[in-house]
Amino acid sequence: MTETPQPAAVIVLAAGQGTRMKSALPKILHPLGGKPMVGHALTAARELEPLQVAVVVRHERELVAEAVGQLDPGAVLVDQDDIPGTGRAVQCALAALDSKAQAAAAAAGIADGEIVGDGIDGAVVVVAGDVPLLDGATLGQLLSAHHADGNAVTVLTTEVADAAGYGRIVREPDTGDVLEIVEHKDASADQLEIREINSSVYVFDAATLRRGLSGLDSRNAQGEVYLTDVIAFARTEGLHVRALLADDPMLVEGVNDRVALSVLAREMNRRIVEEWQRAGVTVQDPATTWIDVDVELAPDVTLLPNTQLQGATVVGTGATIGPDTTLTDVEVGVGATVVRTHGSLAVIGEGASVGPFAYLRPGTSLGRKGKIGTFVETKNAEIGAGSKVPHLSYVGDATIGEHSNIGAASVTVNYDGVHKHRTVIGSHARTGADNMFVAPVTVGDGAYTAAGSVIRRDVPAGALGVTAGQQRNIEGWVARRRPGTAAAEAASNAQGRAAGLGDQAQRQLAQQNATGAPTAPQAAATQAEPADLAPVPGADKEGKSR
Ligand code: UD1
Ligand code: CA
Repeated sequence: MTETPQPAAVIVLAAGQGTRMKSALPKILHPLGGKPMVGHALTAARELEPLQVAVVVRHERELVAEAVGQLDPGAVLVDQDDIPGTGRAVQCALAALDSKAQAAAAAAGIADGEIVGDGIDGAVVVVAGDVPLLDGATLGQLLSAHHADGNAVTVLTTEVADAAGYGRIVREPDTGDVLEIVEHKDASADQLEIREINSSVYVFDAATLRRGLSGLDSRNAQGEVYLTDVIAFARTEGLHVRALLADDPMLVEGVNDRVALSVLAREMNRRIVEEWQRAGVTVQDPATTWIDVDVELAPDVTLLPNTQLQGATVVGTGATIGPDTTLTDVEVGVGATVVRTHGSLAVIGEGASVGPFAYLRPGTSLGRKGKIGTFVETKNAEIGAGSKVPHLSYVGDATIGEHSNIGAASVTVNYDGVHKHRTVIGSHARTGADNMFVAPVTVGDGAYTAAGSVIRRDVPAGALGVTAGQQRNIEGWVARRRPGTAAAEAASNAQGRAAGLGDQAQRQLAQQNATGAPTAPQAAATQAEPADLAPVPGADKEGKSR
């Protein structure tokens, strides 16, 4: 905005209900591209660097006010009263902006002069809150045209195939200047033929707007105060009203129902995807790839089909995401791989690997070259560089150091029914498969735990934690308790083979087993001393996951 003067204000109209959405949620809060609809209007508005942004609210006032407060804390909220119509909305906004300007001027000690008298001065941009594809560049063009042509009002218009429901632009045949805007319900048969429509996006000269608004009434088919009537008013004063025709109707299309919402959401996404492709991102299937407006992607990122990148997700160069992955507010490091994963508020380190079938919940942080593998859920979990949680595990409220390996099917038991507790596992630790870490508990650096252990007490650095009881084999149990089953027969055959018996002898043995009488080898085995504890089941080849 170097050549064009800063506008005095942008007024965003957001007081309407949006009846045709048939929703408890106000229309302008329905999301697309990862933001409530009105958020896109606010983003475009801010690109003009206006002195003020005002948002007119009424329907579901508290909900809308809260959303606007989050999207744009600097925006001024203006309440529309119970008089309906876009004209009334702008009357309320201008009155609020004027008295704010007067108060500021008074506070600055300017006791007289036109600022205190009238209020804001310069260009006032009005945008509807339900035109999500409108961008700052288009608004900038409209504002430049307004100043360059010396207009009192400049309207953004477009031509559509079906103009039903829109206000029609009536132009003067010779000059092409705008004479008036006629609402669909007030239009004559001839006027209904006009395909150039009002987008509800305008630039007004503040003084013209103030005078025009003061004379509005609601004598029309809808009994509403129409902002569009300010155009005809400006003409009566002999002022210039011109239209900027947007070539791309999508840019100025409003959302009135959920069909339009999905059409515009898809179009917004198509534009976002294309922009990233041109910036060096490989998108294998644009039709099934959804990227929110605030997502940031580095060059040479690859997105595979059915990937949704939402919120403030950031992806580093060389990373591959998808297929079938949804990431919301996730930071993905350079060269990382994320396959068939659902994640939110997580950080994935450089070169790390996630999935397939991983669920990363908020507070997950995976270090450089770490791994969160298949059927693994994590939450509030810090997993250090090179550490791996490869299979079938839950890691919640846990800190795992570097280069540690968590055995398959392990759970950090973090919840005692009242409080959540933390599991801390050091670096270069190797925990066995099927471990329960009953938090709060700590496993030291370089410690091991045996498979099947329930770790309730801290394991010191370098120690082996074992809780599994010694194994007892009850010989012949199947033959006695499950006689006649396929298992009994298989066991009997195996025993016969082991004893080197011929077919005839094996059949005899099988018959014995079927009746439950113990055999000699079984009787001997049950007498045997229990074996010593097996070596650590988890301790296999160094650095290999199980
Ligand atoms: C309006 C225009 C129409 C234009 C169309 C484009 C008028 C009279 N008509 O009609 O020429 O073609 O938009 O979509 O302006 N709003 C308020 N307060 C109100 C009424 C509406 O803030 O009392 C807001 C809505 O929240 C919405 C915007 O104004 O963001 C447009 O309102 P909507 O009811 O959609 O206007 P249309 O009847 O479509
Ligand atoms: Ca509308």
